[in-house]
Amino acid sequence: MSVHVLDHPLVHHKLSLIRDRKTAGSLFRALIEETGLLLAAEATRSLPTVSAVVETPLERTETRRLGALDPVLVPVLRAGLGFLPAFLQLMPTAKVGHLGLYRDHDSLVPVPYYRNFPPLLEARPVFILDPMLATGGSASEAVRQLKAAGAVNLTLVSLLAAPEGIARLQADHPDLTIVVGAVDRQLNEKGYILPGLGDAGDRLYGTA
Ligand code: PRP
Ligand code: URA
Repeated sequence: MSVHVLDHPLVHHKLSLIRDRKTAGSLFRALIEETGLLLAAEATRSLPTVSAVVETPLERTETRRLGALDPVLVPVLRAGLGFLPAFLQLMPTAKVGHLGLYRDHDSLVPVPYYRNFPPLLEARPVFILDPMLATGGSASEAVRQLKAAGAVNLTLVSLLAAPEGIARLQADHPDLTIVVGAVDRQLNEKGYILPGLGDAGDRLYGTA
């Protein structure tokens, strides 16, 4: 499995503000979206391109454009929705699938409750969007469902990961690519990332 840790000064700066318990509401959402832009630039580094000839105001030249088949973005509800505007801003023609999963509070096992994937998954690069990779249960289930639906080229994009979650994905899906902003120390006994940022979905949508 390939794991890219962005380790970028802007990600560290924004993450510092995101982690702060005093950062709330629209600022929290804006910062998540901004980190999404930085992660999107890294996650899309290997997208295939094709040649396109254009006339600049000065001369004819060969350029590169994205291939004909649009990528697929799959935010994992709810927190993954925080990254979606950034990815759509950079790839406005991307197709969007939705996957509803929540962690059972006691067992921490992901419970699926919604799924709607676009066609031609097998031919498209698929980006799973979820800011939090904790035990890895939700991401592993998302990858399992997407593979069962035909996807083969899968990248998980997260802002924060726990070492436990990375190890779980390495065991379950060694063919997966992960792009992550930072790797934190460990999980606590309730499956929260330490030092972490708390519950991403609750902080994004004010449901704490
Ligand atoms: C959060 C987060 C991930 C999951 C990560 O979602 O957005 O999907 O937990 O934890 P894991 O790696 O241990 O599976 P949550 O289950 O809280 O759902 P919500 O965003 O709808 O609140
Ligand atoms: N989900 C979150 O939103 N935060 C964590 O720390 C772990 C799982």
